[in-house]
Amino acid sequence: MSKPGSGNQMWGGRFATGPDAIMEEINASIDFDRKLYAQDIAGSKAHAKMLAQQGIISKKDAKQISVGLDTILSEISSGKFKFSRALEDIHMNIESRLSDLIGEAAGRLHTARSRNDQVATDFRLWVKQTMFALSDNLTQLMKVLTDKAEQHCDTIMPGFTHLQSAQPVTFGHHCLAYVEMFARDKSRVNDAIVRMNECPLGAAALAGTGFDIDRVMVAKELGFSSPTRNSLDSVSDRDFALDLLASASICATHLSRLAEEIVLWSTPQFGFITLSDSFSTGSSIMPQKKNPDAAELVRAKTGRINGSLVALLTVLKGLPLSYSKDMQEDKEAVFDAAESLEVALSAMRGVVGDMAINTQAMRLAAGSGHATATDLADWLVREAGLPFREAHHVTGRVVALAEKQGVILEELTLEQLQSIHPKITNAAYNVLSVENSVASRKSFGGTSPKNVKQQVRYWRKRLK
Ligand code: ARG
Repeated sequence: MSKPGSGNQMWGGRFATGPDAIMEEINASIDFDRKLYAQDIAGSKAHAKMLAQQGIISKKDAKQISVGLDTILSEISSGKFKFSRALEDIHMNIESRLSDLIGEAAGRLHTARSRNDQVATDFRLWVKQTMFALSDNLTQLMKVLTDKAEQHCDTIMPGFTHLQSAQPVTFGHHCLAYVEMFARDKSRVNDAIVRMNECPLGAAALAGTGFDIDRVMVAKELGFSSPTRNSLDSVSDRDFALDLLASASICATHLSRLAEEIVLWSTPQFGFITLSDSFSTGSSIMPQKKNPDAAELVRAKTGRINGSLVALLTVLKGLPLSYSKDMQEDKEAVFDAAESLEVALSAMRGVVGDMAINTQAMRLAAGSGHATATDLADWLVREAGLPFREAHHVTGRVVALAEKQGVILEELTLEQLQSIHPKITNAAYNVLSVENSVASRKSFGGTSPKNVKQQVRYWRKRLK
């Protein structure tokens, strides 16, 4: 390989002096894009194979390139590789090492490509792999939640609106609400995989190339469904990364809601759950404490994941076509968000899997707060023929009386009930129990134990 005039050995030909130290500092991406080494090597191997097949480089050179790249792969994997900031990024670090290893043939690898399509390809490969992992991780969490739902399809807890006791629900139903959310998160990730499954390699710097390359072959080699159709778009597009970040942000938001509930439920005031020792921590000063740190951190990760989405949206906003160096700032945000979400999902899986459900505390809380008032109103509609609005009003007065007497609805005497409405009979007591209340909610999507069992069966099949 012909060595440079000065400075960078890859592009230094026209430069009289090397970069300023600050230039190197702002320009170098090797400290983070080294994460892409496996993808970069896979891309280069596919490219070299194609160049040889098309007669653009010799079979002998392609062989040498491939063997050299394999050596580099094992050097990096085993931690023996020496990364250099002067070589800026992962692409040039690898190519330079290849040149040390195999000499002149290394210089032929960059024929008919540019770092612009190279980095777009590497990053797509990385994002795609990450999306598959994310999708898997979501499935694992859904399985744990479905297990909990199955164990607790008839465990009664208060259902809340405005965080005020609203109507009794089953804990299994509550768990399956999250399964629904995580299933949509998974489908968002899976949709994104289909959308981004095109290979940009061969778009070259921005305009394509005059060499007779075979982009379909390269796309296949790398596991993409086809090559991208527009060279400008190929090197400019990062919306596959935005798709990951947007899906990650929505998923993190879902996680944060579950995390928040776990924090609340584990307080002595709620006492609905007990966290396992393995997913909580103690206080260095207050010996009685057991803190829900894992859930709190899951809740907090949402901040940095959402931050990453906003960061990349802002980097891309207003960027003219095609490649600009701004786009080098795409990686850290994505790496950080992906890592944060992975650990958040895994931690949540542990927290949920290990937590003990205090069914008695849940049942007790479900029975307080007049949570079956709606059931009485419904009974008045069904059995006494009242319009719902009137039934609502009558029940409101029953609640007010119970409050005044300091009792729950079931503890009011028939006389007291009839003093508010004469059509109330003994039969009304049946609907006042929380057990009967949840059992009656059999409408599709409702909370009854029967429904929950059915839904558990549905998810078991889907999650297989
Ligand atoms: N390190 C660069 C990045 O991550 C690679 C592409 C550089 N292309 C260029 N024309 N300078 O975006």
